[in-house]
Amino acid sequence: MKYTSFLIIIALSLSLSAQNQPFAIVLHGGAGNLTPTNLSTDKQVAYQVSLSNALSIGYTILANGGSSEKAVVSVILYLENDTLFNAGRGAVLTHNKEVSHDASIMTGFDLNAGALAGTSHIKNPILGAAAIKDYSKHVFLSGTGAENFARSQKLDMVTPDYFITQRRLDQLDKIIKAEDKSSGYYSDPFTGNGKFGTVGCVAIDKGGNITAATSTGGMMNKKNGRIGDSPIIGAGTYADNSTCGVSCTGHGEYFIRIGVAKEISDQMKFGDSTLKDAAEYTINTSLKNLGGTGGIIAIDKNG
Ligand code: GLY
Repeated sequence: MKYTSFLIIIALSLSLSAQNQPFAIVLHGGAGNLTPTNLSTDKQVAYQVSLSNALSIGYTILANGGSSEKAVVSVILYLENDTLFNAGRGAVLTHNKEVSHDASIMTGFDLNAGALAGTSHIKNPILGAAAIKDYSKHVFLSGTGAENFARSQKLDMVTPDYFITQRRLDQLDKIIKAEDKSSGYYSDPFTGNGKFGTVGCVAIDKGGNITAATSTGGMMNKKNGRIGDSPIIGAGTYADNSTCGVSCTGHGEYFIRIGVAKEISDQMKFGDSTLKDAAEYTINTSLKNLGGTGGIIAIDKNG
């Protein structure tokens, strides 16, 4: 199967400002099984409208001279609040019908990063990740520790039922019924209904600063405690002003093993690759050879 048939939604905007300083933003609404053939026209339109709205929010911030961090966080916030996407409200569910969010953010000018995993009470996980980056001594917090930290930062907290939608309950039910019990808890992640998703955004602002962020509910029907690539700096998210910013989507177990996001940056840093060549090789050779599927969005230092 060719991966490209599974890459559902990407929107890109690149501009030259009046002062000729380039800025750019790219976002995704996930990769998985949401293809034109299994989405109604209405749903396709709904996804496109939502992504366009998110893109406008980020674009406007950058065009007005705002930071890539502000643009990226604002875009992810919008997508987390939209139940269409596998992030925040409307995220996929664990085998136990629970939500378990993963999110991360990295700024390329200082190589600072914040990430959280396994939370189910922080209304907007991306704000939790950003707070961990900015206000904690740590990079990565999980579960109740991450939630307690979010509370201490006065972030909005909700009960887990806020995140759960009937659509995801129905999808989980369908997947569990269709599961091949003899081959583990999933067999073919890209043929199940709604197993994957993830949202991501990468931007470079007029100051040349790159930020990348990723947020997800992970994999539908995942085991309790499973953490994917999205909150792992270097696997699902990476940003370095001297190379690029990357946000990944796909089968996280494989992205973790390769360290996809940092791998792409490293190929540019140490191998003199272009972003295009590094991404192409990492996704279509390294990831594919390992048996993984998914994709990335990325922006290099030239936008
Ligand atoms: N790439 C999202 C996940 O595997 O959790």
